[in-house]
Amino acid sequence: MKKDKQKRLRSEDWFNPGDPKSAFIHRSWLRNQGYPNDYFNGRPVIGICNTWSELTPCNGHLRDFAEFVKKGVLEAGGVPFEFPVTSMGEILMRPTAMLFRNLASMDTEESIRANPLDGVVLLTGCDKTTPSTVMGACSVDLPTIVVPGGPMLNGKYKGERIGSGTFVWTLKDKIKNEGFTPEDQIEAEICSARSAGHCMTMGTASTMACMVESLGLTLPGAAAIPAVDSRKKVLAQLSGRRIVEMVKEDLKLSRILTRKAFENAIKLNAAIGGSTNFIIHLQAIAGRIGVPLNLKEFDTLGSKIPLLVNLMPSGKFLMEDFFDAGGLPVVINQMKEHLHNDALTVNGKPIGENNKKAECYNPEVIAAIDKPFIEEAGIAVLYGNLCENGAVIKPSAATPELMTHRGPAVVFENIEDCHANIDRPDLEIDGNSIIVLKGAGPVGYPGMPEVGNVDLPEKLLKKGIKDMVRISDGRMSGTAFGTVILHVSPESSIGGVLGLVQTGDYIVLDVPNRKLHLEVEESEIAKRRAAWTPPEAASDRGYTNLYIKTVQQAHLGADLDFLVGKSSSVVKRDAH
Ligand code: FES
Repeated sequence: MKKDKQKRLRSEDWFNPGDPKSAFIHRSWLRNQGYPNDYFNGRPVIGICNTWSELTPCNGHLRDFAEFVKKGVLEAGGVPFEFPVTSMGEILMRPTAMLFRNLASMDTEESIRANPLDGVVLLTGCDKTTPSTVMGACSVDLPTIVVPGGPMLNGKYKGERIGSGTFVWTLKDKIKNEGFTPEDQIEAEICSARSAGHCMTMGTASTMACMVESLGLTLPGAAAIPAVDSRKKVLAQLSGRRIVEMVKEDLKLSRILTRKAFENAIKLNAAIGGSTNFIIHLQAIAGRIGVPLNLKEFDTLGSKIPLLVNLMPSGKFLMEDFFDAGGLPVVINQMKEHLHNDALTVNGKPIGENNKKAECYNPEVIAAIDKPFIEEAGIAVLYGNLCENGAVIKPSAATPELMTHRGPAVVFENIEDCHANIDRPDLEIDGNSIIVLKGAGPVGYPGMPEVGNVDLPEKLLKKGIKDMVRISDGRMSGTAFGTVILHVSPESSIGGVLGLVQTGDYIVLDVPNRKLHLEVEESEIAKRRAAWTPPEAASDRGYTNLYIKTVQQAHLGADLDFLVGKSSSVVKRDAH
């Protein structure tokens, strides 16, 4: 591509500002780490934004990767500085990692803007660490490249593939019905976590890695390379080299994250059977960079797209198989008729050109566009009196017979109520019932946890019932499956109709016609609303309080309202 005329580097305002005292201050303290004079003579300064943490096991290997990125930056004539940002481990953080996505994005944004950086490499992995860092970087808008940390090797238990997360959701059934012992469980734990890396299903982490590759924010083929494959280190090194060139070309995020890039990402997410969490994170990223995107477009652009990838939770293979079959480049190539092939990517070339030679090495894992695994795979967006602003369902992970269903609600006021009562022998519930979970939205929980795929009652599992319609204002793990309606907006805790549903009310789900309707008269709904009182706020101080007061609803991406948009990389004042 044609190179832009090189601008004065942003970092030179720190290191060569024309004022000797200021230059001394900015250079001298850094030099206690042993940098030679020529590090500060107009070489591009690259920040390596690291979400490494031992409490985020999916990102535990990223310190090693940073060394490979540094090697690449130095080879290309840049100067690397690694810095930490808030990391979020999906499994350990309470009440839910999602509560902290926006906080981590603020940390990333301010860390980038406040420091003498010309370009940034984002090292990501576990679910929220990708959107949080991309959101933060968007609000600064420097040249930025993402290095996804990569999935773990395939889970293997007694000769069978087991997918991280996806296996867990079957555990209750296995213990109740298949004689699964505590010893089996201990053994299966390590079998589903065989190496460094993130969940190896097409869960949220893999979906996020594919999202950034689809958006053009990684080098081609980055998403599926397993964390422990030597090619991942090569990718890190090449990304380090490339970011230096991107700085010289002034190839900022806003030049890559165009409307075309977002449309490509939505279509490719449908083709890979990606997580429903994709929606909420992509909207938040679009909000930061300033590309209008509304919830309905995920349906209009994506729902007719065929499913080309046979990975759990929708299918049977895992990310290592996806990589061996050719990875996302094959899907991009197969999808070329649906995509904006001219969308620019971080290597300076259009996405179509990058992937036009990609070949499939295993048609059982990646289908050809004319022989898809499912004809229409994307996410459906539902509307109705239960969800005026929308709700979502992933049809490829649902039971086809339940896609049109009418049944009586069995209501749980919150997840604790659900845990305490779902297995009660006297609970009036059968396979026709619809489980309604309230209090799981952004404000109500707070943080919109992944609890929407409520476990089915033991007594129904024993009868062989494997799926039921479930509705909530929460999210669902990308590794989970079932006929689960999520992200109901407005949420129950701020006065949404979901909060007014009572056990015994009939609900109609009609996915083909995109309807979700509570069969209760308007006058009765109004009566219930008049008697409704909002639940007590979950916190009266600190970040959680700020979050509750400012978080947007799910249909907008659940960002904090004052974080939407970008403030550029300019900082007008200096303390020295
Ligand atoms: Fe980190 Fe699944 S728990 S990616």
